[in-house]
Amino acid sequence: MKPLIAGNWKMNGSLASNEALVKAMLDGLGGQAPGADMALCVPAPFLAQLQSLLTGSPIAWGAQDVSSHEQGAYTGEVSATMLNDFACRYAIVGHSERRQYHGESDLLVADKAKVALAHGITPIVCVGETLAEREAGHTETVVKRQLAAVIHAVAHCTSEIVVAYEPVWAIGTGKTASPEQAQQVHAVLRAQIAAATQHPERVHILYGGSMNAANAASLLAQPDIDGGLIGGASLKAADFLQIVALAH
Ligand code: 13P
Repeated sequence: MKPLIAGNWKMNGSLASNEALVKAMLDGLGGQAPGADMALCVPAPFLAQLQSLLTGSPIAWGAQDVSSHEQGAYTGEVSATMLNDFACRYAIVGHSERRQYHGESDLLVADKAKVALAHGITPIVCVGETLAEREAGHTETVVKRQLAAVIHAVAHCTSEIVVAYEPVWAIGTGKTASPEQAQQVHAVLRAQIAAATQHPERVHILYGGSMNAANAASLLAQPDIDGGLIGGASLKAADFLQIVALAH
């Protein structure tokens, strides 16, 4: 299985800056097949642009969220079928910024993962503990509870999800989990997936949280870290490509 390096642009970008960034990434690849699978998860209004810039390239694209509803009176939401219209391969679900700022529960995140899969979209399921939870010794309990809700909802499709371990205290803070800290949690998640599916080896478990060109190599060298979910560094073509180059 190739590693997966996925960018999460969060609420950043503009038509002009996206075009420059994506072109710089494609130029940087120089027509070579990268050693890692690549994806960019972008704000919904830019999906058409990414589809047009990336079709036929080695970089896939996706959304940062998806509604748990199929359609109807859900103002502001974006449905999985809408993401299908723009050929999204991925949708992030349960990012900590949505859990924190939008009150998303484990159950809602699980429903979103299920809806994405039902529409052929791979959910990138984010799990992670806050600093208070880590300090209280609850890291494993928290990430297992978050992942268990998704496994329960998607059942036999568990081998089709991507999991991202993103310790909340490491996101956008410049504080990365040490490779050992991350590996410890990834091993717990791998065991949980192995208990739920006959094909645990198909599931990418990504690390996210201040991953950058300088620290990616040691994180990606860990046996259960299968790639990265990159925030800030995915907004810089050179940094993102450097991480991709380190992942093989
Ligand atoms: P940073 O890489 O900016 O810390 O963000 C990580 C993240 O939240 C990716 O989803």
